This record gives sequence, structure tokens and C-alpha cells, in this order.
Amino acid sequence: MAVSDVRLDRRRLVGLTTAAAAGGGLVALVEGVSGGAAARAERELPLSPPEDLMREHGLLNRVLLVYREAIRRIKRGDAVPLEELGTAASIVRTLIHDHHEHVEERYLFSALRRAGRHVRTIDVLLAQHAAGRALTAELLPLDRIPARRVDARARDRIRRTLSTFIRMYQPHEAREDTEIFPAFREITPPREFRELSERLQEQEARRLGPDGFARLVARITDVERSLGIHDLAQYTPEDAPKPRRPGRARPDEDRGERRS
Ligand SMILES: [Fe+2]
Ligand SMILES: [Fe+2]
Repeated sequence: MAVSDVRLDRRRLVGLTTAAAAGGGLVALVEGVSGGAAARAERELPLSPPEDLMREHGLLNRVLLVYREAIRRIKRGDAVPLEELGTAASIVRTLIHDHHEHVEERYLFSALRRAGRHVRTIDVLLAQHAAGRALTAELLPLDRIPARRVDARARDRIRRTLSTFIRMYQPHEAREDTEIFPAFREITPPREFRELSERLQEQEARRLGPDGFARLVARITDVERSLGIHDLAQYTPEDAPKPRRPGRARPDEDRGERRS
């Protein structure tokens, strides 16, 4: 069973009544999961809200790499990767605009505003959410436009839209990761924090469907493969020093361990 399946099972368990949940094995039978799977699900920690949102920022960053590659191709005079851009924009709409930003606005920004924290930054972030949605709306139809209709003016417009999107979202998500999410953790009592973790997992399953995040990761992986930017090793400098093999301590670390 995949990790995400276990998480869904856990969500189903959480949704049951207290009386049913007290039945343990019965719950597992009713839900069609084995006792072992139910026990594993119960042990699994839900993603905390910042962890969940930062994971989504990670997927957004992979989209930004796709957009960068498209810009590179346009500047070089190559064909615009229309299909890949349309797919990447649809991932942004589904995950970021329709889910992630809704969560930020509904739960985090409103709580921080009430607490008088980062109020001016939140105004800017909200304006950027609206701007991001408008930029994505320009990119969404690209996979339905015939390549022959993309003239020099259209190429330039696509390039500028992609650049504007990247320029805005990199500082946007960096500010959220380093200031907004930590501040939200600071002002939220632990019990509310845990309850919100469960609620966000349920919302994500409802909006994205079962295994929704994993399916979006698979889609962006396909886009990266199609553009030849998926192999992580291509980003390592050629003259990078050879890495140590994981799990092997340096000699000085060995000596330190023996001393203690
Ligand atoms: Fe945001
Ligand atoms: Fe965000």
C-alpha cells in the first residue's frame, strides 16, 4: 500500500464515529483494510499545515523550472512547448490557485490578520494570488493552440507572461516559507494546529481526489521528461567534488566516536 493510500485510510478512520473507532478491528473490517494497515495508518503523523503547503511550493518550483526551460527555448528561437506549458499551467490552477491559495487565505492569512501579524505583507500576497491567477489564465489555452498560429508577437507575449510569473512567485513563496508559515505556527495553539492538519488533508483529498498530490507529481514528471529536464544529475556542476558514500563516517568522526 502506498503512503498516500495509508493516509486516505487514516482519513476514513478519522471520519468515523467515536463508537465505531473504539471497535478497532471492526473499523478495519468495515473499511476493508487489514488490521496491520489500520494500525500503520493510526501511527502515521498527518502533515502539519506548513509542511503540506511547503510540499506544494516544491511542486510549484518544479513548474517554474518548466517555465524557465520554455523561456530558454523561445529565446533560442526553438518551438514553444505548447502542450507542456498547458499541462504545467493546469497543474498550477488545480493545486496552487484552487487549493493551496484558498487554504492560505481562508486559514493562515485570516488568523494572522486577526493577530495583527504581517498585515501589510498579507495584502501584497493576496494581490499576487489574484495576479497569478490572471497569468495562469493566459497560459492555460496554450495546449489547444496550433503551433502555426504562434507568431513572433505571441512568442514574445508567452515569454513575458512566463517571466512575470516566475519573478513574482519565487519571492512570494520564499516569504511565505520563511515568515508567514512560521508566524502562523507561533500564533496557533497546538490543538488547533493538529485539527487543522486533519482538515487540510481532508480538503486536499476532496479537491484533488485520491492520491491527488502524487498524481500531480507524476504529471509534472512527465512534462519534465518531455522537455529533457527531469534528470536531477544534469544540474550538478561537472567539476563538483566526488561525494562521500552515505553511511561512512570520516576518520575524524570515527575517532570522536571512540573517544566518547
Ligand atoms: Fe501564497
Ligand atoms: Fe503559498
